[in-house]
Amino acid sequence: MSNQNSSEENRGQWGSKLGFIMAAAGSAVGLGNIWRFPYMTGENGGAAFVVVYLACVVFIGLPLLYVELALGRASGRNPVGAFRETGGGMPFIFTGVLCLSACFFVLTYYGVIAGWTISYAISQISQTTLVFEEYTADPVYVLPVFALFIALTVIIVRAGVEKGIEKWSKILMPLLFVLMLVIIIRGVTLPGAGAGLTYYLKPDFSKIDGTVVLKALGQAFFSLSVGWGLMITYGSYMSKKQNIVSNGLWVAFADTSVALLAGLMIFPAVFAMGHDPSSGSGLAFTTLPAVFAAMPAGWIVGTIFFLLLTVAAVTSSISMLEVPVSYFVDEKKARRSTCAVIIGVVAFLVGIPSALSNGGNEWLSNIEMFGQTGFFSILDQVFGTLALIIISLMLSIYVGWVWKPKRAIEEIEQGCPWFTKPLVVGITPAAVWAFFIRFVCPVVILLVLLNTLGVKIPGLS
Ligand code: PHE
Repeated sequence: MSNQNSSEENRGQWGSKLGFIMAAAGSAVGLGNIWRFPYMTGENGGAAFVVVYLACVVFIGLPLLYVELALGRASGRNPVGAFRETGGGMPFIFTGVLCLSACFFVLTYYGVIAGWTISYAISQISQTTLVFEEYTADPVYVLPVFALFIALTVIIVRAGVEKGIEKWSKILMPLLFVLMLVIIIRGVTLPGAGAGLTYYLKPDFSKIDGTVVLKALGQAFFSLSVGWGLMITYGSYMSKKQNIVSNGLWVAFADTSVALLAGLMIFPAVFAMGHDPSSGSGLAFTTLPAVFAAMPAGWIVGTIFFLLLTVAAVTSSISMLEVPVSYFVDEKKARRSTCAVIIGVVAFLVGIPSALSNGGNEWLSNIEMFGQTGFFSILDQVFGTLALIIISLMLSIYVGWVWKPKRAIEEIEQGCPWFTKPLVVGITPAAVWAFFIRFVCPVVILLVLLNTLGVKIPGLS
C-alpha cells in the first residue's frame, strides 16, 4: 500500500494489481489450507467432503468474495464503516462488529497453531523429534513461540504491509508451492499410499450429511478469508482501475490449489503409515515429520517447509489484525501503530486458554460446548465457523436486497467492463452473480444454519 493516492491521511492504497493479489492471496493461503483443510477432510468423510467444499468455494465463496470487494471499494471503509457508509441499519452494523470479533478471536488461536509450526521448524533443524501430544501440552514450549508469532504479526502491521511483505511473499509463496510438490512425490510413492489416494479422491456420497455441509461451508469461508469483512477492508484499499472479478478469481484459484495439494501431501502418507485420518487438529503435525524422516536429507526439506508455513501464517495473521486496526484507525481516529500493539497484546492474553487447551490444562482441554471438546475447538466452532456463516448470510441479504446488486454491479463494472456484457445467450456475468447473491447464497446458507441449530430439513439432515 502506498499513501500517495489516499483520500485520508491514515488510509492507504495498494501499490499495484499484483500488490493486491499478493496480499489477498497471502491472507487466504495459510494454516487454513495446510493444517485445517486436511484434518477437516479427515474428520468429515474424505473425498465426499472435498467435493462439497469445492462446490461451496465456487457457488458461495466466490460470489461473496465479490460482494466484499465491491462493498469495500465502494465505501472505502472497514467492515463497520462500510455498512454505515452505504446506508445499512443496526443489524448490519452489528454484522460489521461481528467481523471485527471473528478476526480478533480467530487470531488468538491461529497464533497458537502458528507457534507450533515455529517449534516444528526448530525441531527439524535440530533434528529432534517432537511428540505432538507431549509438546502441545507443555506451556513452557507452546507459550513463547505463540508470543513470538504475535510479536512478528504486530511488527509487520505496524510497519505497513507493503514494505517487505509484498516483496517477500512474491518469492516465498511460489517456493512453498514447489516444496509441496516435492513432499507430495515422496508421500505418494510410500508403500501403502494408494489407500490414502482413494480415501482423498474417491467420494463416498453416503458420508454427506448436515454436519459435513456445515463444516465444508465453514472451511470454504475460513480458507478464502471470506465472511470476515477482511476483503471489505482489502477492497477499500483497491483502486477503481483494478479488476475485482479477475483478481478475485486469482485469489480463489491460488487458495483452492494449495488446499488440494495439502490433502495430497497428507493423506497418502497418513495411510502409508497407518495413522488415523480422523485424528483431528494434530494430523499435519504428526504426519509430515514422518514423511520428512523417510526422505534423504529430509530435515532440510522439513525445516524449509515449516519456515515457509510460518511465513504463510504471518501473511494471514497480519490480515486478521488489520481488520480491527482499520476499524479503530477509521472510526476512532486512533494511531495505527498504537492499535496494532494493544490489540496484539490482548490477542496474546486471550489466546492463552487456547494454548493450554491441548493438554496444558485439564479443564480447558475437556470443556464441552456446541458439540466440541476443548476451549480451542469451541472457539473455532463459534468464530471460525458459525460467525462466518452468519456474517455471510447477512452480507448476501444486505447486498442482494438492501444495498441492491445494481450498486455493486456498477462498482464491479469499473475496472471490469465485460461484467455487464452478454457472454452466452444474452446472459451477463453480472446477472448470474446477482442471482447467486439474491437467491442461492442466502437460501443455502440459511438452510445450513438452521440445520446446525437443530431444525430438521428433509434431504439435508
Ligand atoms: N484464510 C486464512 C487461512 O486459510 C485464515 C484467515 C482467515 C486469514 C481470516 C485472515 C482472515 O489460513
